[in-house]
Amino acid sequence: MNGRKRILHVVGARPNYMKIAPVIRAVDRAKLAEQLLVHTGQHYDPSMSDVFFSDLGMPAPNIHLGVGSGSHAEQTAKVMVGFEKVCLDERPDLVVVAGDVNSTMACAIDCAKLRIPCAHVEAGLRSFDLDMPEEVNRIVTDRLCEILFTPSPDGDENLVREGTDPRRIFRVGNVMIDSLLAHLPRARSLGAPEKLGLAPGKYGVLTLHRPSNVDDPVVLSRLLGAVTEIARELPVVFPVHPRTRRKLEELGLAPHVAASQRLHLCEPLGYLEFLCLTSQARLVLTDSGGLQEETTALKIPCLTLRDNTERPITVTQGTNALVGTEPSRIVAAARAALSGTAQGTRLPELWDGKASERIAEVLGTWRRA
Ligand code: UD1
Repeated sequence: MNGRKRILHVVGARPNYMKIAPVIRAVDRAKLAEQLLVHTGQHYDPSMSDVFFSDLGMPAPNIHLGVGSGSHAEQTAKVMVGFEKVCLDERPDLVVVAGDVNSTMACAIDCAKLRIPCAHVEAGLRSFDLDMPEEVNRIVTDRLCEILFTPSPDGDENLVREGTDPRRIFRVGNVMIDSLLAHLPRARSLGAPEKLGLAPGKYGVLTLHRPSNVDDPVVLSRLLGAVTEIARELPVVFPVHPRTRRKLEELGLAPHVAASQRLHLCEPLGYLEFLCLTSQARLVLTDSGGLQEETTALKIPCLTLRDNTERPITVTQGTNALVGTEPSRIVAAARAALSGTAQGTRLPELWDGKASERIAEVLGTWRRA
C-alpha cells in the first residue's frame, strides 16, 4: 500500500453517529489516514440525522446515498447498490461500519464481495432472538467483517462460539461511552428538564421504537397503560420516534396518550438535549440498545421493556433491568426503582472514553494476513 490509507466510514441511522464520530476524531488525531464519510440516508428527518452531526461536531458526509425508508429488502438492496458504486469509485483501503442497522449489514456485504477489508465497531453482541431484524444484521456483519471491535467480553465469547478466528477480534471497549463522556459537560449545561418545566432528578424518560413493541396495537397500548400508571407517581418525558408517532396515529392511540398530563410527548431530541435529559432523570424506560449502555455509564436506573438484551453486561454490572412488556411487572419494577433500593453498580472494563483511540491504533497497523 503506497502513502496514507484511505478509510471510508459509514453512517445510516440515528444510533450510528455517536459511534463513528469519536473514531473519525481519533483517526484524525493520530494522522493515520485520509477519511471519507458516507451517509446512506436510512434516517433522513433533520431530527434523526442533521442535528447529530452538529451536536457531535462531525464532518458533513462526503457522499450521501439518500436511500430513505422501505421494506428491509428494499432498504438493504438500495444501500448495497449505492455503496458498491461508492467503493468502486473511491477505492478505500478499509471500510468502517458500526452497530446493527440495515445500512451496517448492507455495506459489510458489499465489502466482502469486493474484497475490501471491513471493520465492525460494536461487534459480537447477540440477543439470540431472530425476531429482531438487528440480530440478523449483527450475525451477517460479524461473519463477513475482517476486523471485529467488541465492547465487552461477552462479545468476544459469542464470536468465538460461532467459530470466529480470535485474531479477527479486538476488544476495545465501548465507543458510545467515548461520545457520552466527551459531551456530558456541555449537555449538562443545556437545562433540558427545566425547559420542559421539570425539576432535575424528578422525572422519568421513555423511548419506544422496536417493531415488536410499537407495531402491535395490543402491545403498544399495554405498554402505554403501564407508563401512564407510572406517570401518576413520576412525570415522564416521551420523545417519540417517527415510526412510533405513525403507529400512535394509525392506531388512534394519540388522544389517549395526550390525555395523560404527566406524560409529556415531544419530537425526537438531538444528542445533547437528550443526554442532558437522561443524565438528570430519576428513571429511564426504553427498548433502545444504546440507552441501556448510556444509563449504565450515567448510573441512572434503566428498565428495558424487552425480554432479552444483546447487552447483558448492563444488567450484570450496570443499572439495567430486563422487565419485559407485561404492565404489572413494569409498574412494580418502576416502584422498586423509585423506592431507592439501587444496587451497587460498576462501569464495565474499557468503558473509559478511550475505545476510539484503541480502534485507531488497530486501524493504523492492521494488515490482511
Ligand atoms: C432503525 C434500526 C434500529 C435502530 C433505529 C434507531 C434497522 C433494522 N433498524 O430502526 O436498529 O434502533 O433505527 O432509530 O436498521 N422514519 C422517518 N424518518 C426518518 C427515519 C425513519 O419518518 O428519518 C420512519 C419511516 O416511516 C420508516 C420508519 O420510521 O419507515 C422506520 O425507519 P427504519 O429506518 O426502517 O427503522 P427504525 O425503526 O428507525
